[in-house]
Amino acid sequence: MTPSAEGCAVERSEPEYNALSPPDTVSSPRTMALLEVRALTRSFYGFHALNGVDLDVEEGTITGLIGPNGAGKTTLFHCVSGLIPPQSGRVVFDGRDITGKTPHRITQRGLVRTFQIARGFPRLSVIENLMLYGARQPGETLPPCRAGRRSSSRSGAP
Ligand SMILES: Nc1ncnc2c1ncn2[C@@H]1O[C@H](COP(=O)(O)OP(=O)(O)OP(=O)(O)O)[C@@H](O)[C@H]1O
Ligand SMILES: [Mg+2]
Repeated sequence: MTPSAEGCAVERSEPEYNALSPPDTVSSPRTMALLEVRALTRSFYGFHALNGVDLDVEEGTITGLIGPNGAGKTTLFHCVSGLIPPQSGRVVFDGRDITGKTPHRITQRGLVRTFQIARGFPRLSVIENLMLYGARQPGETLPPCRAGRRSSSRSGAP
């Protein structure tokens, strides 16, 4: 465990790989962490929620961020994912500076987040909620035939 800012701590562990999820093989080794956060700050009305946060997340590892209520965990996620801009510091993902970029741009670059309190659209079905997520994201996708059938029937097509 390594100390971070404002009472948070970071834990890392190497995930266990099996035949279904072999470790990525890269021809040239990465020279920097997949996600690098440097000296990130964010205040709310004079209260320092983030006060110089440094964080490295290495590719192929699982990293946990722990801390008491109000320590700034969600604020850090917001600043990294572009939901709110940091006041200073830097966020580099996969070698690109994403500091202050909009959430949809950051998502397109492959950094996808979840929310502490998940809120869907209650009037939409589960499949319609899932269809709202951006196209071309890495990871799981909806089978195209399933999504296509639903949108066709909505538009009145046979
Ligand atoms: N939009 C905001 N306006 C004002 N203060 C805020 C805002 N967002 C967060 N804060 C304050 O910043 C501090 C850090 O909040 P944050 O939600 O990041 O903590 P947390 O570690 O995620 O807490 P929890 O474990 O309860 O989820 C808290 O004191 C909170 O009240
Ligand atoms: Mg939180």
